[in-house]
Amino acid sequence: MSWKNLKVRTLQKKFRQGNNEITVLKNIDLDLDAGKSAAILGKSGSGKTTLLSILAGLEPADAGSVLWDDTEILRLSEDKLNPLRSRKVGIVFQQFHLIPYLTALENIELPTLWESGGERKASAREWLERVGLGDRADHFPNQLSGGEKQRVAIARALVNRPGLVLADEPSGNLDEETGTRVMDLLFEQCVKSGSSLVLVTHDQDLARRCDHVWWLEHGQFR
Ligand SMILES: Nc1ncnc2c1ncn2[C@@H]1O[C@H](COP(=O)(O)OP(=O)(O)OP(=O)(O)O)[C@@H](O)[C@H]1O
Ligand SMILES: [Mg+2]
Repeated sequence: MSWKNLKVRTLQKKFRQGNNEITVLKNIDLDLDAGKSAAILGKSGSGKTTLLSILAGLEPADAGSVLWDDTEILRLSEDKLNPLRSRKVGIVFQQFHLIPYLTALENIELPTLWESGGERKASAREWLERVGLGDRADHFPNQLSGGEKQRVAIARALVNRPGLVLADEPSGNLDEETGTRVMDLLFEQCVKSGSSLVLVTHDQDLARRCDHVWWLEHGQFR
């Protein structure tokens, strides 16, 4: 999959609750090329997950644009956006969002459903082993530890070799050694397959490994 870049221009996002309106994102601009990584840092509640969800085309914005390879996604209909997202984007959610009635292996297989059967099984199995869960293939999410679920979520995000990888606290539940190993996989994937990697993290050491570090504060990068 060829991938060029992610571009965001003058992005704004407000949440309304009753008569209350909070501006979470005031004015965000960013550019991220293929093969490059960026860390988004910021206090709890600063809007990191909201921004990531908008970049993923999962949450609408109030103004501005998000471009995946020059395609403006914020105004695409769901039936155009969904197939585009599944080809171009891999997402690691803060709360994992694994499918509870699918095994670890099946969860990883899920994004590959349109590939031919043999290839699909092989690559899902390969990713399961890469994240160190070769012996957990048949476990359901409720039979996995938090860190194991996180690794399944990371394997699922990478299995299709997406152009854009978005990860919310991907090392949050992992011990230092496992965290480093799994983060190595994310960075390696980014450089090798020329994807753009956006990491939300509180970990400054991890942020330092990225090509760009963006601090989110008062709805803007400071
Ligand atoms: N659906 C929603 N409706 C109303 N307010 C929301 C909604 N989702 C998020 N918010 C508010 O928007 C702000 C940003 O939330 P967000 O989840 O993006 O923060 P975050 O930076 O990811 O925080 P954390 O580090 O704790 O994960 C918070 O103040 C939150 O209360
Ligand atoms: Mg968050």
